Amino acid sequence: MTTKKARLLGAVAFGVFGATAALADDVEVLHWWTSGGEAAALNVLKDDLQGQGIGWNDMPVAGGGGESAMTTLRARVTAGNPPTAVQMLGFDIQDWAAEGALGNLDDVAAAEGWDAVVPAALQAFAKYDGHWISAPVNVHSTNWVWANKSILDELGIAQPATWDDFVAAMEAVEASGRVALAHGGQAWQEATMFDGVVLSAGGPEFYKAAFVDLDPEALGSDTMVEAFRRMETLRSHVDDNFSGRDWNLASAMVINGEAAFQIMGDWAKGEFLNAGQVPGEDFLCFRVPGSEGTVTFNSDQFAMFNVTDDGARAAQGAMAASIMSPSFQSAFNVVKGSVPARTDVPNDAFDACGKQGMAELAAAADAGTLLGSMAHGHANRAAVKNAIYDVVTAHFNGEFDATTAAEELVNAVESAM
Ligand code: BGC
Repeated sequence: MTTKKARLLGAVAFGVFGATAALADDVEVLHWWTSGGEAAALNVLKDDLQGQGIGWNDMPVAGGGGESAMTTLRARVTAGNPPTAVQMLGFDIQDWAAEGALGNLDDVAAAEGWDAVVPAALQAFAKYDGHWISAPVNVHSTNWVWANKSILDELGIAQPATWDDFVAAMEAVEASGRVALAHGGQAWQEATMFDGVVLSAGGPEFYKAAFVDLDPEALGSDTMVEAFRRMETLRSHVDDNFSGRDWNLASAMVINGEAAFQIMGDWAKGEFLNAGQVPGEDFLCFRVPGSEGTVTFNSDQFAMFNVTDDGARAAQGAMAASIMSPSFQSAFNVVKGSVPARTDVPNDAFDACGKQGMAELAAAADAGTLLGSMAHGHANRAAVKNAIYDVVTAHFNGEFDATTAAEELVNAVESAM
């Protein structure tokens, strides 16, 4: 018996044999969800599809921001063998759509009413030329700090309300002999911190002028110099072994009490939850001090590549429909640390940080302060993003001072445009 037949018979036995599942192949999914928390969230998706009789071929390529995954993807597509579905961010989705490489999800989107429930900021990436080309799984946000509560309690440190408070808190932690800031020295992690730091130094309009509009005046301004100075302050509070460390190992330092803070997107919360920790009891979540009121977001979406085989197409449709169902959006995002990609999902199942994230996302969308994450491909195309990465990381590693870094940023962005 072929595997597919066996699977379909299994599906019949479990009473979940539906028109789509009857035809559907397995899905091959390219993604970069390789940490403990990410794997736990991925299992929610795998189990959901398995319940419909759709098997899962895993293609993980580690590395936040998806740079390595995108390199692997390019090679697969060039070889004429694209995966069924690919985790993708922001402008990368639009670039692949412009190449004509993505399939059309209009049917499933119409049947499930995506137009009415997916926030406009996400539709801007999930649609190309008016057609749905990807299914958004979540909304993450990068301007968060994760803190070990017992360290702060022991040292009598209140949750920092301003950048200066935050710096004072890091100094106090360091004086106690612990690491103040858990950080992994990889370009995308430095860029992730930079999202929040630029906001804290300049506010949402400045962030937009610099990262979305690429205004050379903003990029080379005194405010940008100040943002780089703040990065130098952060650099002075990381431990000696930060180079190359993966982000989830930095989260683990906060989880196990080795370090007090991590500046990271809310996928970090998935690590705390996976370690059995509870927000408000074991750890705190708060916005990068000085960035409150603004949400720098990135949305993981599954882009479906053009496939000709009916079974593969059916699997893509079933996967897209599953991803967008309200129950899946709740179950998945509760584990992942993100918030739902549709506006009609109740917040009941979410913890305090998740409820805060959902409320802040809605408020920021209303206030015009919901801004795409530069670090995670939602402010500009990959070429520009990578140019910014290079400058931020070189500066963080001491190659030049803050003033030179701002000048370098102007030049790097100009040549990448
Ligand atoms: C993705 C998250 C992921 C993180 C770290 C981000 O680019 O949007 O889903 O957890 O990278 O791997």
